[in-house]
Amino acid sequence: MILGRREAIVGIGGLGLAASVFGMTGPADTPVTPEPLKVHAARRGLNFGAMIRTAYLQEPALVKLLLDEADMTVAEVEMKWGAIERTRGNPYYGEADQIARFCKKNSLRLRGHAGFWYRNIPQWAELAMKGPDWRKVLLARVSSMIGHYRGRVSEWDVVNEAIDATDSSFFPRQVPFGRPMDFGYIADAFHAAREADPSTLLFYNDFGMEYDTPLEDQRRAGLLALLDELRRRNAPIQGFGLQAHLGVHRNFNAKKLRAFLGEVAARGVIIRLTEFDVMDRYAAAPPGARDQAVADHARRFLDAAFDEPQVKGLVCWGIRDRDSWVLQEKWTRGLLERPLPWDDQLRRKPLWTAIAAAFDAAPVRQPG
Ligand code: XIL
Repeated sequence: MILGRREAIVGIGGLGLAASVFGMTGPADTPVTPEPLKVHAARRGLNFGAMIRTAYLQEPALVKLLLDEADMTVAEVEMKWGAIERTRGNPYYGEADQIARFCKKNSLRLRGHAGFWYRNIPQWAELAMKGPDWRKVLLARVSSMIGHYRGRVSEWDVVNEAIDATDSSFFPRQVPFGRPMDFGYIADAFHAAREADPSTLLFYNDFGMEYDTPLEDQRRAGLLALLDELRRRNAPIQGFGLQAHLGVHRNFNAKKLRAFLGEVAARGVIIRLTEFDVMDRYAAAPPGARDQAVADHARRFLDAAFDEPQVKGLVCWGIRDRDSWVLQEKWTRGLLERPLPWDDQLRRKPLWTAIAAAFDAAPVRQPG
């Protein structure tokens, strides 16, 4: 059989020879060593984290994997408003506290997720936010949540997913307020967060700015406008979380992503990829080919992202495939997704290797 050029590259790439044989651009790969991802990351001043749920703490194999591979974690739902304050003024921190204690005991950095998000809001708050007191209600949530973890959470997504857009314009997301908004409330939320915890890093977190589409052009413009607005209002923002829910079928443009991250960095904030996973729902191929497509796509994305020195790390939205939120969302039409670095038996997948190789190829930077 005669291999096409692409198959040849994929095949030889596994031996780490593709770059030298074909003179491809980018740093030549040396074979990836089996050290944990956090070790590959730390050599370049980067960090590696993975999202968990309270239930994982009962699974020794998962706990061991997390502690071996990651230096940071984040709770999937346990710190969201709807999980904390089902009845107004009577917060329940039981599960979130379990995760916080686990992190302290094991010296894992903990991301707080999230102060305000338009989803997972308790019913009473959803109603209250439609009334005249919405701003007070929102700021009380941000203050009490972040205040509860004062000194224990290394960084907070103060506000999550507040930008909305069409192909021709961007605007603040209206849900659940049901009225036109401006970005002013986001500035207020950052001020409240700073007061509640003077030492935690304050992030704005969002999705849909990774790819080359008119909609995502608008979303990127919206993010830059938001950062400018926050500065004008002296809001103490220190980080931008780019969720990085990727898809192998999406149109990726490395130059565009690189330019965007440069613009963000020029506004004086650090960047973390906060909810990384790779969907492949249109790639109806055998698992081996799908896993390789996922890995190749991730590598292209991460190489471009890590090129920006203000990108400080990567957090996966989960550990093993079967727990991924992507499966819960039922986008797959029966084809089970394989979006994470570990399979259901907790074996490392090609995506794991792609992440390790991208860390290895990244320029060295100041950790953040
Ligand atoms: C998801 C969780 O993984 C799901 O379990 C939950 O039902 C819905 O939220 N962007 C975010 C995350 O910021 O909080 C979302 O997490 C995934 C998309």
